[in-house]
Amino acid sequence: MVERDGHTVTAKLLGANDEADFESAVRILLEGGLVAIPTETVYGLGADASNPEAVARVFAAKGRPANHPLIVHVADLERARMLSSDWSASAEVLGRTFWPGPLSILTPKSEVVPLDVTGGRATVVIRVPRHPATLRLLTELHAAGSCGLAAPSANRFGEVSPTTARHVMTDLGGKIDAILDGGACEVGLESTIVDCSADPADILRPGAITRHNVASTLAEHGIGVTSRTHAERSQDTNAIAPGMLRSHYAPSTRLEVFETDVLLLAARQSHESAGRSVEVVPRPPDDFEYSRSLYAMLRECDARRADVMLAVLPADEGLGTAIRDRLLRASADR
Ligand code: TXA
Ligand code: MG
Repeated sequence: MVERDGHTVTAKLLGANDEADFESAVRILLEGGLVAIPTETVYGLGADASNPEAVARVFAAKGRPANHPLIVHVADLERARMLSSDWSASAEVLGRTFWPGPLSILTPKSEVVPLDVTGGRATVVIRVPRHPATLRLLTELHAAGSCGLAAPSANRFGEVSPTTARHVMTDLGGKIDAILDGGACEVGLESTIVDCSADPADILRPGAITRHNVASTLAEHGIGVTSRTHAERSQDTNAIAPGMLRSHYAPSTRLEVFETDVLLLAARQSHESAGRSVEVVPRPPDDFEYSRSLYAMLRECDARRADVMLAVLPADEGLGTAIRDRLLRASADR
């Protein structure tokens, strides 16, 4: 619980479009507090990346091990370059093309980024998010001397990411100072992470900026991207980096996933005839809608406390790759 004047309180809910609320979010962050922020992907748990005490609070609130590095959010490309000691051609091209947007870039860090933000690593992951209130917030933080906003997804470590302010309140309401409510997230899945320190560039986490988007953009500039698909990478246990943990984004009810509706139906019948209660995660007609609503649906199904939840995997292409990735992790053995 957050303590103020000896009392425990829950997070203040601030409106992103309310001027006084917005200024209050900026003030809390500059004083070293924790504010959950809206982005187009998922809500982030924000702290001033230049303030080590604020960063330490993020790890405590999330229950996250201190060697897990945090993404740093900045207002624009120029700010991103300042955080890097070796801004590669691939980083420049991807940043120029996809920012603000659901793409994060891994690059060698400059001395501007404190080591506690990166969990002791020599690299940093940077993103310019596409939410007007958060972009404005970032501009104000930079103007006050901050290098950016360290913000992992605003959920407890290993659990499903939040896509509304209410999700954040449920998960972390007693542990943070405020939530800036900017509405439901448009994309609904965490950003694509590209390692731009590698040559060829490497996609570490699939997201709404697809492999095709990244590869074709880089190809226009004569830059390569690794040929290894996400499915191949996932088979390789040595490739598991922090946050690429196999069991991640997990609801508390056991989740089983299937390639087709027919297979799901067969499993449903067999569970029900064995007396087990079943929740089927609804599958929207297109992958944009599936991505946007997936985490909210997982939370709703989870709250019904069935014995098992069942979901269908989309095809491994385009946005489907990212949805599959999250569903497979959510269903992995813990
Ligand atoms: O869409 C997103 O990226 C959201 C929103 C809030 O921006 N953020 C997000 O943060 O998903 P988080 O911390 O939940 O996931 C970031 C992932 C983690 O798996 C972390 O381990 C990895 O990126 N990461 C961050 N910095 C890294 C680094 N220097 N080296 C390797 N992995 C890194
Ligand atoms: Mg996360």
